[in-house]
Amino acid sequence: MDQNSSPKVKFFSGEQIPVELHKVRIVQKLHLKPIDERLKAIKQGGFNTFLLNTADIFLDMLTDSGTNAMSDNQQASMLQADDAYAGSQSFYRMEAAIKEVFGKELVLPVHQGRAAENVISKTFIKPGDAIPMNYHFTTTKAHMELNGGEIFEIFTEEALKIKSKHPFKGNIDIHKLRELIARFGKEHIPFIRMEASTNLIGGQPFSIANMREVRKVADEFGIMMVLDASLIGENAWFIKQREAEFATTSIKEILRTMCGICDIVYFSSRKVSSTRGGGICTNNKDLYMQMRELIPLYEGFLTYGGMSVREIEAMAVGLYETTDETVISQSPGFIEYAVNELDRLGIPVITPAGALGAHVDAMSFLPHIPQSEYPAGALAAALYIISGCRGMERGTISSVRLENGEDLLADMELLRLAFPRRVFTLSQTKFLIDRINWLYQNRELVGGLKFTEEPKVLRFFMGRLDAVSDWPEKLVAKFKQDFGDSL
Ligand code: F0G
Repeated sequence: MDQNSSPKVKFFSGEQIPVELHKVRIVQKLHLKPIDERLKAIKQGGFNTFLLNTADIFLDMLTDSGTNAMSDNQQASMLQADDAYAGSQSFYRMEAAIKEVFGKELVLPVHQGRAAENVISKTFIKPGDAIPMNYHFTTTKAHMELNGGEIFEIFTEEALKIKSKHPFKGNIDIHKLRELIARFGKEHIPFIRMEASTNLIGGQPFSIANMREVRKVADEFGIMMVLDASLIGENAWFIKQREAEFATTSIKEILRTMCGICDIVYFSSRKVSSTRGGGICTNNKDLYMQMRELIPLYEGFLTYGGMSVREIEAMAVGLYETTDETVISQSPGFIEYAVNELDRLGIPVITPAGALGAHVDAMSFLPHIPQSEYPAGALAAALYIISGCRGMERGTISSVRLENGEDLLADMELLRLAFPRRVFTLSQTKFLIDRINWLYQNRELVGGLKFTEEPKVLRFFMGRLDAVSDWPEKLVAKFKQDFGDSL
């Protein structure tokens, strides 16, 4: 199939099933362990799915970060990697890919997305600054706050609605943006941040029309725009599907248009190009020079930025592949299938389907668990116990504890089930849906969690919790009653 031709395949039966436009050539054996072993594993991991060992996991849906399947061409490119501390040809190939795909000439390599956030925050944010954005990402917020900034999420009314038909829930509310500028003054707003396929609200895209409106305001006040392009391929795919003006535009053109609107584009390569690493790019020499000095200090020399040259080669190829619809539509296609099936079964999921994963609404799934007992964390643990599938809590555990000792309750309590690109099959997806359905029918058995060990920064990564009662044992007993010795 040609690059940029439509991947949509219709079935004679009328069924809507995503078809894989790739074949599997390397496989990894998975383990679906008995439920008693899974219960033991989650207890050892402090009821935190980050602390599980993949030997105990069947479908690892924690994240798409660094877990997308690489293509044959990416693997092949790694053989030509040029080992050199300075001036590596691998870097220049990656730089050329960024110029072509994002249309930005000046490139700074970093070891992953949050390193780009560190460099950008350190360079441009000073204490007392306000940073408007469609929504935060955990590491983004942490870096901005470490540098004395405060983030302001100026999303539209639709953004936090679980059930919606709005095509662009990641849009910025222009009225709120103007209010914020009036409140803080343009000199205290170093930049406006837009995050493609807004991660924490369910992988929801924004439109180019919205970006253009934001740009207009930014120009009026002389404020810079920064794009988090970690999930830009999927956002571009949604623009093509949902924004009439771009229905026949190539993904390559859409990517260029999105990046062209922003002054600085940064990304996690672990997502956008199915490899590792990250980067920052711009066409503004002055901005480039301001950020450049931090690269050797925190990342490595300017031609590797903490990445291995093999990763840099694979990143270059992965960036070109981000312009291929058959590549970038695969994960959204599977997510759409899963979301529509779960919705049909009456299970509360974020609609419309977005990027990155299916997002189950834990507050409606487990309405009997108060937010102070972490419904999304409890749902992640319960699903792992009954299926071996690992999702990620995106709720109050991923939030922070305030100075008064209380949790800052998250806007949403989500269980995120990531669909890394070209990794899972449709039968595995059906298994997941079946087990979520069983859990939904038995949801009253699931109870809350409490912290037993709570780190101060980014507590969701390493924090340990425990069940507030013996609900995990009761859940296991019911599973055995219904499934016998089935895994
Ligand atoms: N920005 C966004 C929108 C992200 O989703 C991530 C990572 C980062 C920045 C940081 O990039 O991990 O390379 O340092 N998201 C991962 C996730 C961790 O699971 O959603 P990184």
